[in-house]
Amino acid sequence: MSDRDTPLDGGDTVDPPRGFVDQANVTNERIHEEFDEGWPECWERAADLLDWSEPWTKVLNDDDAPFYEWFVDGTLNAAYNCVDRHVESGRKSHAAIKWEGKLGETRTYTYQDLYREVNEFAAALRGLGVEEDDVVTLYMPVIPELPIAMLACARIGAPHSVVFAGLSGKALGTRIERADSEYLVTCDGYYRRGNAFNLKNKADDALLKVDHDVRSVVVDRLGETLPHTIDDADRDYHELLDEHAGATVDPVPRSAEDMLFLMYTSGTTGEPKGVEHTTGGYLSQVAWTSHAVLDLEPADMYWCSADIGWITGHSYIVYGPLTLGTTTMLYEGSPDYPERDRVWDIVERNAVDVFYTAPTAIRSFMKWGEEYPESHDLSSLRLLGTVGEPIGPRAWNWYYEHVGNGECPIVDTWWQTETGAMMVTTLPGVDPMKPGAAGPALPGTDLDIVGSDGSSVAEGESGYLSITRPWPAMVRSLYDDEDRFIEEYWTETDDGWRYETGDRARIDADGYVSVLGRVDDVLTVGGVRIEITRVESTIAGVDGVVEAAVVAGANNMLYAYVSTESGRMGDDALRDLINETVERSIGTVATPLRIVFTTELPKTRSGKIMRRLLESVTNGEPLGDTSALRNPESVGELQAAIRDR
Ligand code: WT7
Repeated sequence: MSDRDTPLDGGDTVDPPRGFVDQANVTNERIHEEFDEGWPECWERAADLLDWSEPWTKVLNDDDAPFYEWFVDGTLNAAYNCVDRHVESGRKSHAAIKWEGKLGETRTYTYQDLYREVNEFAAALRGLGVEEDDVVTLYMPVIPELPIAMLACARIGAPHSVVFAGLSGKALGTRIERADSEYLVTCDGYYRRGNAFNLKNKADDALLKVDHDVRSVVVDRLGETLPHTIDDADRDYHELLDEHAGATVDPVPRSAEDMLFLMYTSGTTGEPKGVEHTTGGYLSQVAWTSHAVLDLEPADMYWCSADIGWITGHSYIVYGPLTLGTTTMLYEGSPDYPERDRVWDIVERNAVDVFYTAPTAIRSFMKWGEEYPESHDLSSLRLLGTVGEPIGPRAWNWYYEHVGNGECPIVDTWWQTETGAMMVTTLPGVDPMKPGAAGPALPGTDLDIVGSDGSSVAEGESGYLSITRPWPAMVRSLYDDEDRFIEEYWTETDDGWRYETGDRARIDADGYVSVLGRVDDVLTVGGVRIEITRVESTIAGVDGVVEAAVVAGANNMLYAYVSTESGRMGDDALRDLINETVERSIGTVATPLRIVFTTELPKTRSGKIMRRLLESVTNGEPLGDTSALRNPESVGELQAAIRDR
C-alpha cells in the first residue's frame, strides 16, 4: 500500500450530487475568496442571520489578543433568536422540537409551545432567585425540558452549564463547585435499554460534596417507576410551571461578549476545563454553519443524534437549528434498542431531511449490516453529516451508499468543544468531497499544519493542526483560569497568536485537511516514532475489521484491539491479513505484538475509545473509574482475552 492509499487518504473526489446543489442554501463558488478578501467583516453575514437589539460597532477587537472580542457593543438575546422571533413572524404553529422518547413515546412542541414553556420556566428560575450571570447547572437526559431549561436560562441572561447525564455524581459535584453554581435542574431518572436509572440519587450524592448551598429543580420523567427523594429544598419542575402559568419574561439584552454558557470538556485525562462561550459570536457562527453546511431551512425535519450534554448537541441540536426556525429532533435512545433499525425507523417515520451523527455510530451500523437501513424508506434524506473523529473512506462510502443512496452529500465536520462551531468541512453546495478528508477550512477561518518548531510542514506531511485567525464562536477563556487558557491553547508568533487544536493532521494541494488524531497519540517503539492513529487506520482498512484501537504495553510493545464484522472473531486469516497490511504500509516496527479480537471496544459516552483503559487492561493493572464508559461490559471480555494467552 502506498501512503496515498492508506484508509485516511482515500484520494477519490466525489462531486456534490446535482439534485442537492440545485436547491442548496449556499452555491456561491467564490465564497471562500470573498470571505478571505473581506475578513473579518465577512463574518457580518453570519451575524446578520440573527436579530440584534443593538447593532455592533466593530466586528473584531484584537487589542487584547488572544482575548478577542466579536461584534463589539452589539446586544442580543439567544432565546429571543431561537423562539420569539419565529412566533412573531407568523410561524408559531410550526414544530420546533420533536421528541422521540426511549419507550417509543413522542412529543411535539410548536414554537408557540416552546415560547410558553420557556417563559414560564424563566419566570420560575427568577422566582427561585436566579439573577443575570448566575451559572445554572443542568443535569438531564435528552428530554424536551433540557433545551427548554437552556433557553429559559438564556432568556434571563444566566449562563447554563450542562453536565451530561451519563457522568457520575462526582463529576457533577466537581463541575457545580468549580462553576460556583447555586442552582441545579435535574430529573428523577431516565431509561437505558429499557431499564430505569436513578439520576436524582447521583445528583444528591454530588451535592453532598459541594460546599455551598444549591437549590434544585427536579423534572419528573419516570413517574412512579422509580422512587426518589424530593427534599424540602427541591422543587418539582411541573409544579413550578403551574405556579407561573402564562407568565412572560422579557428577554434580557445581553452584550455580544456576555457568556451564553459554560461547558466542561469531558477530557479522559486531566482536570475538566470550563470552556466559556459567548452570546453574539457563538450564535452567529452556529447559525451560519447550520445554514451553509447543514443546509437547514425552517421546513426541514432535522436530526442530530448526539446528546445535548455535549457541544454537538448545544450547537447543532439546540442553538443552530432553532435560530433558523427549523424542526429539531431530540432522541433519547440507543440506536440498537429495541431493534437495530431504530435509527432508520425514526428517519422514515419522521421523513428526516438532514441527519448528523458520529463515525462510531456509522461503524456500528456497518457492523450490523446494510439490511437494516435497506428495510426502510430513507428517500427523505437530503444531506448527511458526521463529527467526532475521522471517518475513513470505508465508513464514508458505506454511509454514502447505504444511507444516502448516492444522492446526499456528506459533510465531515471537524471542530471541538473549544471552537464552538464547525471549522473544517466542505460546503455541500460548493466543494467536492474527498472521502477520508474533512475538507478545507470554513470560509472566514484559516489554518496551518505546523511542525514542532512552529513552521508550516510540507504538503502531505503530518503536523499539528493550528488555527491562525480568530473566529466568532471561539472559546473566550476557561472559567476562572485565564492563565491556563493561554497555556493550553495559544502560541504567540511573529504574525500574532496561533490556536493549537491538539490534533495531528495533514493537508493536500487543494487545502483539504485529513485529521489523524490527537497529538498525544504518538509512541516511540524501538527508537522509532509511530503514529498510533496511522496504525489504527491501517488496521481499520482491512476487510473484515470494524474498528481498531492500538496501545503500547508497559513493555513498549504495541497491542491492537480489533472489533470485527460478525463471524470473523478469532479468524486467523484475518489476523494474518492485519499483520501483513501493517507491515507493508508502515513497517515491521509497527506490527502489533498481540491482536485481540472483540465484539466492541470500550468507549466514552461521546464515542471516544478509552485508550487509557486499554492500556490498563494490557498491563493487567487496576482499571480505576469506569463510570465514563458507555459499554462497561466490553471490558471483562478484553481482560479475559488478554489473560488467555
Ligand atoms: C475532537 C474534539 C465537536 C464535536 C464533537 C467532539 C475530534 C471532531 C472530527 C472530524 C476527525 C474529529 C478531534 C477534535 N474530531 N470532529 N470530523 N474528523 N476528528 O468534541 O469532545 O471537543 O472533541 O474530536 O480530535 O479535536 P470534543
